[in-house]
Amino acid sequence: MEYILFLHDAEPIGEGGWRVCYHHPLDPDKCIKVDRIPNKMSVTIKEVRLLKRFYSRGVSFDLITRYYGQVKTDKGPGYIFRLVRDYDGRISRSVQYYLEKKNETAIPEDLSQGLIELKRFMLSEGIIVGMLEDHNMLYQYIASGKGRVVLVDGVGNHQFLPVANFFKSAARRVLKRKWKTFECQLLSDYGHNEHVVRIVENIRGAC
Ligand SMILES: Nc1ncnc2c1ncn2[C@@H]1O[C@H](COP(=O)(O)OP(=O)(O)OP(=O)(O)O)[C@@H](O)[C@H]1O
Ligand SMILES: [Mg+2]
Repeated sequence: MEYILFLHDAEPIGEGGWRVCYHHPLDPDKCIKVDRIPNKMSVTIKEVRLLKRFYSRGVSFDLITRYYGQVKTDKGPGYIFRLVRDYDGRISRSVQYYLEKKNETAIPEDLSQGLIELKRFMLSEGIIVGMLEDHNMLYQYIASGKGRVVLVDGVGNHQFLPVANFFKSAARRVLKRKWKTFECQLLSDYGHNEHVVRIVENIRGAC
């Protein structure tokens, strides 16, 4: 039987340019994303198509968000994803949130390791993205003082290179370029913060 989930009083977790991310009213470990303007070629539909392909290829979903399917909501078509939480239950904060901290001790010590692991994972599995942005990556504490970086938005190919969706070698080439652009963006946004400069040097040196 088809049912409609009512999100009208569900609390939004976050909002981006394209969609709003709500708590799933029935499951604390899931969120529902609703496009601001639903259409057949929305970013979510393209993202979901690739996530399904990764799933059937047996890719691990530790560092990208797991997709659970579609649901009708009172705000339009909803797409269900894993809600990324820290080990203590708090919703994980973005990499941007941590990089904006002036105080070095507020930046998790293993953040650069987390970014390096995400980069290696994306390159080895060919996880193609439109653009890498620090507000679309969450630093997830998996234990006290220990975390990983999870990509929650951006999967999809926004450029005219469909071959990159099928061939890892083509994807890798594109991804190396995307990471280079992302690293330059970090330096331009936070170049005054020597801790962030070190993080970028670490990422560059490692891959
Ligand atoms: N799986 C998730 N777990 C926890 N928080 C999330 C998750 N997905 C998204 N969020 C939060 O909701 C915000 C908006 O979601 P999302 O980035 O998917 O929207 P968007 O409109 O595609 O963003 P953009 O403006 O970057 O295109 C995110 O920046 C993040 O703070
Ligand atoms: Mg986003």
